[in-house]
Amino acid sequence: MPARARPGGAGMRRGASAHRGCVPAPHGARRGPCPGGVLPGAFGAPDRLVAVEPQEVNSRRPWIVGVSGASGTPYAAAVLRALLAAGESVDLVVSRASRLTLLDETGIAYRDAHWREDLGRWLARGADGKPGAFEVDTGAADVRHWAAGDLAAGPSSGSYAVKGMLIVPASTACVAGVALGLSKDLLQRAASVTLKERRPLVVAVRETPLNGQTLRHLVALDEAGAVVLPASPAFYAGATHIQDLVDFVAGRVLDAAGVPHRLYRRWEGELGGGSARG
Ligand SMILES: Cc1cc2nc3c(=O)[nH]c(=O)nc-3n(C[C@H](O)[C@H](O)[C@H](O)COP(=O)(O)O)c2cc1C
Repeated sequence: MPARARPGGAGMRRGASAHRGCVPAPHGARRGPCPGGVLPGAFGAPDRLVAVEPQEVNSRRPWIVGVSGASGTPYAAAVLRALLAAGESVDLVVSRASRLTLLDETGIAYRDAHWREDLGRWLARGADGKPGAFEVDTGAADVRHWAAGDLAAGPSSGSYAVKGMLIVPASTACVAGVALGLSKDLLQRAASVTLKERRPLVVAVRETPLNGQTLRHLVALDEAGAVVLPASPAFYAGATHIQDLVDFVAGRVLDAAGVPHRLYRRWEGELGGGSARG
């Protein structure tokens, strides 16, 4: 299986776009230059408009990526690489159990104290186990790591600015915890916060077969507004390598989040594309 580096590698582009977060002034209010316009004050009343400093307007709004202890750490790596390649900021929460799956699937021991170094080795790894399949500069990438036990971390609060959350892969235990609102760790708490704030939540569940309890939890998540996205690769996109199958699932996660990517070849309405490469 050939090693493949993607164009526009992770860490190449940083930071928010110049006008991100600029909110139009309410009707009748005097609008300042953008960035640094005006935002509604408390309760959005026009008489309580407050000036906003440019650095506030341009504040970071990451995607939270939660990695739970289901098999499928290559899915998480593919999602993380693609988010960073798209210039997105990432807040990463790696559950305690997922450190076991990561160790099992990659041989990498993920340590809170050395997370950047460990993340770099993880993201460089292909789904086939090749250590240097991707070029990823995690030193330059806009990634923030939060320990799974840190319930005072930014993502534990709804007032912490984020775009939404992607749980990749999601264990059935995690699905249950989020569906029931257990918040047993930061990952589950951040997911509950994402739902209560009506932000996008994508849950890439990985288990087979599924019991009735998990199915009911998945329905509850769907009804709460989450996108339930089984980590279930398709074969119509002409996969020839394990990485292609992994990238298909990762690409569907990014589709659900509305983040542009080139992880898989989209269906264009003609039969036979899947076998064309063979
Ligand atoms: C090697 C390994 C593979 C596992 N694979 C899965 C899996 O595919 N799906 C799943 O739901 N749980 C799986 N588990 C079990 C979860 O890790 C376990 O339920 C754990 O409590 C999940 O905790 P978390 O949701 O806090 O990460 C696996 C465990 C290990 C050690």
